[in-house]
Amino acid sequence: MAEHFAKREKEVLNGNITPDALIDYYDNWADNGYDEEVSPQVYRGPQMTAEKVASMFYTSARDNTEILDIGAGTGLLATQLRKYGFSKIDALEPSIGMLNLARKRNLYRNYYNCYLTNDAIPDVKGCFDCVLTCGCFVPGHLPPDSLNECLRFAKKDGKIVITKRANFGEPKYDKSLRSLMEELEVNGKWKKTLEIPVPNYYYDNVGVIYVFRVL
Ligand SMILES: C[S@@+](CC[C@H](N)C(=O)[O-])C[C@H]1O[C@@H](n2cnc3c(N)ncnc32)[C@H](O)[C@@H]1O
Repeated sequence: MAEHFAKREKEVLNGNITPDALIDYYDNWADNGYDEEVSPQVYRGPQMTAEKVASMFYTSARDNTEILDIGAGTGLLATQLRKYGFSKIDALEPSIGMLNLARKRNLYRNYYNCYLTNDAIPDVKGCFDCVLTCGCFVPGHLPPDSLNECLRFAKKDGKIVITKRANFGEPKYDKSLRSLMEELEVNGKWKKTLEIPVPNYYYDNVGVIYVFRVL
C-alpha cells in the first residue's frame, strides 16, 4: 500500500478523531488532491459498487431510480453510477469541501451537507430505491448504528448497498457492525441478499459488498 495512504489511514480512519476534526481533515484533503490520490486505478470501490448496483436495475429503469449516496465525498460513486444511466442521485456529506467538488461536477440532484444522524434531513424518509455508502463504514466515520438511518431513507423493497474494507483491523467495530446487520435481519427489517468479497478494493486490500433488501 502506498506510504501516503498508510499515513492518511492513521490520521483520519481511526475511532479517536472528533467530528469537527474529521470535517476539517476532509475539507483540507478535498483542496489538496483527494481525487488524485484516490484515483480509480488505486481505489476501485466506487466502480465495483456502481457495477453491482447496475446489475440490480434494468437499464430502462435506471433513469427513474432514486439513489441516496451517504458519505458521498467528492462524488466518485456518482461519477461511476452516471456511466450506467443513473441520474436521480442525492448526496449526503458532512464536509463542505468534498461536497463542493461534487457540486462543481454537477453530479447530484440534491446536496445535503450534514452528518448521517437520526435527525439528518428529517423530512426525507422511505423514498429511495437504493441507499448506498462506499468507504464510509470505518471507525470514526459511520458508527454501526447508522445502519438504522440507512433503513430510514429506503423504500420498502428498496436496496441498501454497503461497500467497505473487508477487514479494517478494528475487530470491535467490525463485530458490532456485523451483529447489528444480523439483528436487523432477525427483527424483520431487511434481508441480506449478497455479501461478496472484492479483491483490490483499495490498493491490494480486499473489500466487501453487502446488499440488503428492505422489508
Ligand atoms: C473515505 S471517504 C469516501 C467518500 C466517497 N464515498 C468515496 O468513495 O470516495 C469517507 C467520507 O465519509 C464522510 N463521513 C464521515 N463520517 C460521516 C458521517 N457520520 N455521516 C456521513 N458522512 C460521513 C466523510 O466526510 C468522507 O467524505
